Amino acid sequence: MGKVHAVITGVGGYVPDYILNNEELSRMVDTSDEWIMTRVGIKERRILKEEGLGTSYMARKAAKQLIQKTGVDPDTIDALIVTTTTPDYKFPSTASIVLGKLGLKNAFAFDLEAACCGFLYTLSLAGSMIESGRCKKIIVIGADKMSSMVDYQDRQTCVLFGDGAAAVLVEGTEEEGVGLQDMYFRTDGKGLPFLHMKAGGSVCPPSHFTIDHRLHYLYQEGRSVFRYAVSNMSDDVVEVMKRNGLTADDVDWVVPHEANLRIIEAVTKRADIPMEKVAVNIEHYGNTSAATIPLALWDYESKLKKGDNVIFTAFGAGFVHGASYCKWAYDGASVETKH
Ligand code: ACO
Repeated sequence: MGKVHAVITGVGGYVPDYILNNEELSRMVDTSDEWIMTRVGIKERRILKEEGLGTSYMARKAAKQLIQKTGVDPDTIDALIVTTTTPDYKFPSTASIVLGKLGLKNAFAFDLEAACCGFLYTLSLAGSMIESGRCKKIIVIGADKMSSMVDYQDRQTCVLFGDGAAAVLVEGTEEEGVGLQDMYFRTDGKGLPFLHMKAGGSVCPPSHFTIDHRLHYLYQEGRSVFRYAVSNMSDDVVEVMKRNGLTADDVDWVVPHEANLRIIEAVTKRADIPMEKVAVNIEHYGNTSAATIPLALWDYESKLKKGDNVIFTAFGAGFVHGASYCKWAYDGASVETKH
């Protein structure tokens, strides 16, 4: 038997119907469409409004669509991994809830948390599980209900985030020239002061004090995050290209974490990659954390061709960051159902 390569063989996605646009946000906090579009490039984001629904609801919808689109037999799925910072509950894992709802009979499930880098890290892990031969088919889902931890009284953060989920199927193939090729990941551990939620964890469990002081929301020093994100993501993209002998001309697509259009533009400019080769959908969804990269794959699937050189890159709380290189395994245009 030849070497097994891990390939993505399908993409499914889900975004909630409710659209929170800049006009509505401008009535909630002191901001404007002009400020948001100039500084961040987001026009609208989707919000899961219905009470009692969490991240698993969106993750399940995305996985269901993936199963329908690929026609994979659910009984052949070996593992389901959800990467999220907004799990339904502290425990059990969101993945176990999704697995139960999908009725997967022969799979195990767990969550992996790496903030906005979650999808990149999880895809790499799933790839290794496939390449080892221990698993044959894995569903990887990036899903976040960011609205559950965003303070809609804080104009510095509430304009940035949205809710969504997307899923990919990772399988093995012996075919040469396709699949996950390389990853360059780093965590520098300097990020805590700049991006975190102050209460709700084991250091500061929930109490009346934490509620009264609004400590259960995402806290961020935007300028520092911006600076670290641009320099780390650019260095990571350049490194992964160098390691694999890729010039800017060789790269067909960059699929970046969608946090801020200015970050994306700065990163790709440093790697000399024109914006026509960059998958961008931040205008419509905002930053959906672990879901941004698979949602971009969902939106751009029809444009991706077999053999395309695709570079992923992300940066998130921690600080976690990295880039990976994949040779796309199928012609997206031949996939019948898109959304
Ligand atoms: N509307 C209007 N004015 C605003 C808003 C708003 N929504 N938010 C902040 N301002 C004001 C500030 O109060 C400040 O006013 P001041 O000069 O009177 O004090 C002014 O705008 C400039 O504020 P800055 O913070 O310097 O603005 P900046 O250009 O840095 O943009 C932003 C802020 C968009 C948050 C930017 O720093 C950023 O994108 N950072 C990266 C954050 C990010 O993407 N985090 C996501 C998690 S990590 C990740 O996914 C990569």
